[in-house]
Formats: sequence, C-alpha cells, structure tokens
Amino acid sequence: MTMDISSIKKIAISTGGGDAPGLNAVIKAVTVSAIQRGWEVLGIRDGYNGIMFPEMYPDGGFMRLTRETVRGITHLGGTILGTTNRNNPLRFPITNQQGIIEYIDRTDEIVRALKLHSVDALISVGGDGSLEIANALHKKGIRVIGVPKTIDNDLDKTVITFGFDTAISFATECLDRLHTTAASHGRVMVVEVMGRYAGWIALHCGIAGSADVVLIPEIPFDIQVVAKKIQERDEQGHNFSIVVVSEAAHPIGGSIVAKPQTGRQELLGGIGELVASELERLTGKETRLVVLGHLLRGGSPTSFDRLVALRFGAAAVRALSEGMDGVMVALDPPNVRYVPLEKVTSRTKKVPLDSDTILTARDLGICLGDNK
Ligand code: F6P
Repeated sequence: MTMDISSIKKIAISTGGGDAPGLNAVIKAVTVSAIQRGWEVLGIRDGYNGIMFPEMYPDGGFMRLTRETVRGITHLGGTILGTTNRNNPLRFPITNQQGIIEYIDRTDEIVRALKLHSVDALISVGGDGSLEIANALHKKGIRVIGVPKTIDNDLDKTVITFGFDTAISFATECLDRLHTTAASHGRVMVVEVMGRYAGWIALHCGIAGSADVVLIPEIPFDIQVVAKKIQERDEQGHNFSIVVVSEAAHPIGGSIVAKPQTGRQELLGGIGELVASELERLTGKETRLVVLGHLLRGGSPTSFDRLVALRFGAAAVRALSEGMDGVMVALDPPNVRYVPLEKVTSRTKKVPLDSDTILTARDLGICLGDNK
C-alpha cells in the first residue's frame, strides 16, 4: 500500500519486546535519516507504555529525538527508549469484577494518541508480538513500517535479525572458556541458552564453539543417546564434554519446561538443569550447569549487528519516503527488501532439518540428541 509522503512532518518510533543489541543503532539511523528529510521524531517510552500510562513519565511518555539525543549510542546495548514484553495493547490484561483476568484491545488508544501528537507515521521495532501490534495499527489507518528484532533469529521473511550475531558471538566465547575448565576437571558442562521455540542460538554457537552435543527444540532428544556420546568420548580419551541446550529443547515424547505468565508469553527455562542431573546419573560424571540467560541480550552489538540495525533504520525511513506502508524491512542479502506485515506475523522461523548447518553439525560429529 502506498501513501502521500508530502504530508509527513513527524514520525514516532517504538521499541518493544525483549531488548536486543542493535536497537540503539536503529533509533540512531531512523532519527538522523528522518531529520535529514526535515521530519520531527518522537520516541515512545517502553514499548507502548508511554502512550497507555503517560502519567508515569515526566515527558508524558514521548521522548523528542534529536541529533544530540542519539549521538554516541550506536555501540550501546539496550534501548534508550526502554522496552517491555508485557502490556501488549492488543491483549491487555485486566482483572474483572469477579477477580478473573480478561484481555482487552487498547489499540484504539494508541491510534488516538498518535493522532493527538500529530504523528504521521510509526516505525515499530520488535519481534513477532510487536509486529502483530504494528499490523493491527496499520489496519486501523496508522502508517507503519516494521523493523524486525530479536536475538532468537526466529522471525520469518528476513534472513537474519540484529542481536543474533552478538548473542552467538558471546555464547561462543563462553563455550571457549568452558572448554578449558571442563577439560581440567574432566567434567560435563551443560550450557542452557535462550532462543524460544527455535534452536538458532544453540546450533550456531554450538558449532562455532565446538560443542559435543547440541539439543534444539526442532529435534526432540533421547537422553540415552546423549549419555552414550559422552561415554564414547571418555573411551576415546576425551574425559570432558560440552552440551549446549536450547531453552525449549525437550525429550522425545516430553514437553517444554515453561512457567505460564499472565499478560505475556510463557517463561521458558529449566531444561538445562534436568539434562545436567540426568547426564550425571547416567554417566556417573561430575556435571555442572551454566545458564547464559540474559547475558545473551546484553553488551555492545557486534559490527555485523550494528550494520544490519543501521541499514534497517535507514531503510525504514526510506520506505516512508518512497510512500510505503504496512511493510517490514527484511534482510535478503545483499539487499534490504520490504515484506507486507501481514505475511510476517504469527510465524516462527525454525531451523530447517535439512539445512546445511544441521548437516554441518552432523558431519562434524556433533550429537543432536537423536540417533542420526
Ligand atoms: O525473545 C527474546 C528472549 O530473550 C527469549 O530468548 C527468552 O525466552 C525471552 O526473551 C526471555 O524473556 P524475559 O526477558 O522476559 O525473561
């Protein structure tokens, strides 16, 4: 869908969902590119909290973004606007008179507030949840461009999301460090990593960091197969093993370890502990667990992630300049392209079982928890 660009004077940007290294680089690129076109830029605080709870913010929930406010932020992790993975305006939780939680749609409030602030277009930076909200706002008449973000790399229609490279670079460094201590003590080190329902982080850091076993949600595992791999390594004179476990990995016939939450996605995590205790029991080897968790989301973005983020931010503003609306910026090397928001929401990009990365892991002798 195209629009009349001559009418753009002011845009807003929101960062939503779990933070990912590179968000500040997007904010910088959007702000500078928009200012070059003579547009004003407003940053919405903490996802859409700035609009739904303006009274909580001294600036009314909107931060004016200028060249000064975005100076020197490209290399910083996190987001200067703040973010949240609660309070989804499409399914906002309220407790009714019977004390039961109900979900209401508050997107009309967002539309009204954007109009009240004379915002002509919105750039929404986020994962599947944020892009779903962006699509809903687009359907209600807001000019929207989406920018995909997540360390999990599980968004469809883009080859990669920024944040992923930083997460796997850090995880790989951790695996390097764990090798020496594991070898010195002859232990099994189990390393649990984030990734939600896709195993990209575990698989990529596991291969790059020379793990012996990688367990991902796409391949339900047999713990006996994993124990056998460790015992075989022992017999070959390698008295230690590194086992990377993705947070949604699960045994054949078993379920994902998760805690249900109100008003947000379930909280994953805990499978590493189960795998570690089972492996200690089955192999008799001393086993330790390391949960990398939120460390994967912190730190300075790698140059790769900075570049993707800067390209995405600039491309989002170019999209508005060129009259686009209701699209997401996507990486399709060597180019950035645009995909209708409609086509990206509610789809999780999982690791294809016939991908060369899976084949590479198998060719390198990495056990994926199955019998192949
Ligand atoms: O989607 C990003 C992510 O870091 C997932 O990998 C993880 O499951 C989730 O967010 C953790 O969320 P929270 O920050 O609420 O603990």
